[in-house]
Amino acid sequence: MVKVAVLGAAGGIGQPLSLLLKQNTLISHLALYDLVNVPGVAADLSHINTPSKVTAHLGADNLQEALADAHVVVIPAGVPRKPGMTRDDLFKINAGIVRDLATAASKYCPKAFMLIISNPVNSTVPIVAEVFKKAGVYDPKRLFGVSTLDVVRASRFVSEVNPELNPVDTRVTVIGGHSGTTIIPLLSQLNPTQKFTQEQIEALTHRIQFGGDEVVKAKDGAGSATLSMAFAGARFAINILEASVGGKTGIIEPSYVDLSAYVEGGNTVKAETQDCAYFATNVELGKDGVEKIFSIGKLSEFEQKLLAEAIPQLKANVESGVNFINA
Ligand code: NAD
Ligand code: LMR
Repeated sequence: MVKVAVLGAAGGIGQPLSLLLKQNTLISHLALYDLVNVPGVAADLSHINTPSKVTAHLGADNLQEALADAHVVVIPAGVPRKPGMTRDDLFKINAGIVRDLATAASKYCPKAFMLIISNPVNSTVPIVAEVFKKAGVYDPKRLFGVSTLDVVRASRFVSEVNPELNPVDTRVTVIGGHSGTTIIPLLSQLNPTQKFTQEQIEALTHRIQFGGDEVVKAKDGAGSATLSMAFAGARFAINILEASVGGKTGIIEPSYVDLSAYVEGGNTVKAETQDCAYFATNVELGKDGVEKIFSIGKLSEFEQKLLAEAIPQLKANVESGVNFINA
């Protein structure tokens, strides 16, 4: 049995994400949890003729049932940005939501892969880690901040500058974190290799860093990215399933992870990032989660400058998350 729980399943991300997961045949049970509207979402999805069973879990009294025996837990629960807000402005509300959901997960499915979408990801991931540490069940290999949307956007935006590139096959490694200038696309490592002018590099980098703001502005108060996030979240969740139960090897994707010394490569990236505790970089996924964390490699001078600027911000974001649980 492969159970996937989506927490916040009735939301703007939760609904299309659940739809995409319903199409995946590695999943046998899709458990949808929210504080509102989730019975309707589950009833609707349950008519789709794929093998998985869909169940609805409404309200905190039913959270245990949603989580019990889950193999993967995806968390898009929380409030999204409105124009003029930063992701850090969401901390006040979302930190508590993520803490409470993580507390339940640490009790009812301590071995699940935890995929964190709720913003600010730079801080919500350390929150989940601290909750699991307190419960004595933390495994850094099983915790992921979902930064896939940055990678998805980067591939697309690069292909708009050079239409000869197919965005599906264009790989951009995006390192750092998931907010503004902590998002660092490594255009110097683009695969296939491209020669962009410095002006193009700076414009592309800015667009990738602030892609979320484009959507927030266009939605004009009605929220942030939901459909592209559902696409990105499903892609990452399916990669975890392919690696952990599908037996697929060699899956490498950027994700915001704990650079714990217990994971191969963690110490290398720690050294490359002036001792960041969490960092988004390429990770290889295996049956137990993070199999290997990859070095950020050789950066251009421009990328080195971006990294130096991002590091204090990343450290402060992590500290906020850690203090929220331990202070
Ligand atoms: P939304 O408001 O449309 O949906 C959020 C859902 O969470 C709602 O259905 C709400 O009822 C539910 N919820 C709230 N508190 C809950 C709780 N305690 N338990 C269970 N469910 C709860 O918002 P959205 O557009 O889906 O965005 C959700 C989050 O994802 C936001 O924090 C947003 O900033 C973030 N996000 C992250 C990325 C990323 O790249 N990581 C991308 C887009 C959005
Ligand atoms: C995004 O990158 O689209 C999300 O983090 C949502 C946001 O607030 O921009």
